[in-house]
Amino acid sequence: MTEQKKQLHITPITAGLTGRVRVPGDKSISHRTIILGALAEGLTEASGFLPAEDTLNTLRAFQQMGVVIEREDETHVSIEGVGLRGLRAPDEPLDMGNAGTAMRLMAGVLAGQPFDSELIGDASLSQRPMGRVISPLREMGADIEADAGDRPPLHIRGGRTLQAIDYTLPVASAQVKSCVLLAGLYAHGQTIVREGAPTRDHTERMLKGFSYPIKQTPGQSLIAGGGVLRGLSFDIPGDISSAAFLLVAASLIPGSDLLLSDVGVNATRIGVIKILRLMGADITISNVREWAGEPVADLRVKYQPLRGIEIPQEWVPLAIDELPVILIAAAYAHGETVLRGAQELRVKESDRIACMAAGLKALGIHVEVLPDGMILQGGYFHGGEVASKGDHRIAMAFAIAALVARGEVFIKDSQPIATSFPNFVSIMNQLGANMRESMMKEEEVADD
Ligand code: S3P
Repeated sequence: MTEQKKQLHITPITAGLTGRVRVPGDKSISHRTIILGALAEGLTEASGFLPAEDTLNTLRAFQQMGVVIEREDETHVSIEGVGLRGLRAPDEPLDMGNAGTAMRLMAGVLAGQPFDSELIGDASLSQRPMGRVISPLREMGADIEADAGDRPPLHIRGGRTLQAIDYTLPVASAQVKSCVLLAGLYAHGQTIVREGAPTRDHTERMLKGFSYPIKQTPGQSLIAGGGVLRGLSFDIPGDISSAAFLLVAASLIPGSDLLLSDVGVNATRIGVIKILRLMGADITISNVREWAGEPVADLRVKYQPLRGIEIPQEWVPLAIDELPVILIAAAYAHGETVLRGAQELRVKESDRIACMAAGLKALGIHVEVLPDGMILQGGYFHGGEVASKGDHRIAMAFAIAALVARGEVFIKDSQPIATSFPNFVSIMNQLGANMRESMMKEEEVADD
């Protein structure tokens, strides 16, 4: 079956964005809610779950392994945990779709099961590097095979005895860290994961929330196998990665004054706020509180002309998913912006350095591409056509640029937006944007 491709047509906006918005639930936390809830003893209930394609793939995978998961409404999940040893062998391969997080975290869980399993993904995920999780899992004793170049599908043989390892992350990756920690739940001894640069720590915080002992010292997390996770009830914060599109949109459009309520502001995720503020953005954080160990706040953002900056490299892992839309802010700012140290962008849902550079050039921005980033000169966007290359964040980043463009912008292949922010277009239109989705014709798909 060929997937029906969509395109997005956007006409520039005429008034500022004002009002109050609740962005959908955090994607990283929603994946982990399903995973840890399934492996816990007892019931887990969470509201604010992200009902997007990526997180629903994780949900379906656990249903395939015998876990009862119900949704009272789209964003409320109840998971009847089966305990660490209660999963059943799936009858079919587990399809993670576009979700790299799901595949890498699931690999850690499946490595410790008594049964064989296979993880598959869509065309984009099938090109993404899995050696980064295969290598530590093999060190622990797992039996995993992948396609050439360590690409999916992953064939994981069950019934292996896992041993704890002391592992230093070769790349700043929360997915790899989380994969090893999850495999550590099944390993003999104490697993240690060391990281050179801080990455998102939701797995560690949530394991604590599920009453599982985990030690954290600066730069390392330690977990021993053989414990028990206990189900709990909690609210999932709004996703700062989705909020980022609105933070940039409001910063760029004169007259904007937006309040984004209940957004997760975990210190390992707020690089986007730090970077935009360094560019001069007017963002205030208020009403900070904690939801099940995760800091949550309301973010107010008002229009403010931005200036180009050299993005501090130590903030790059804290803003890794938000860099596409940060580059849109930079392209509309006054002066030059330099991004370096972001080579990880090359192995995301697309090569985000190449895709952002191509889209920015298509809209008239001067860009010099670097192996690990880019140098761009702020200017104005003209109308034009941009290819998302199947990447949700590329599509949404250019949809934000389109709001302030000097002509109409078409974004080809916009349907992946549903992998992380299914109501993006409707939220933007409620705020006064004019975004219209339509099906792509066959010939348009062919030359995409
Ligand atoms: C994620 C970690 C990051 C991020 C991804 C979600 C997670 O990936 O880009 O969207 O939930 O752990 P890496 O670990 O590959 O940097």
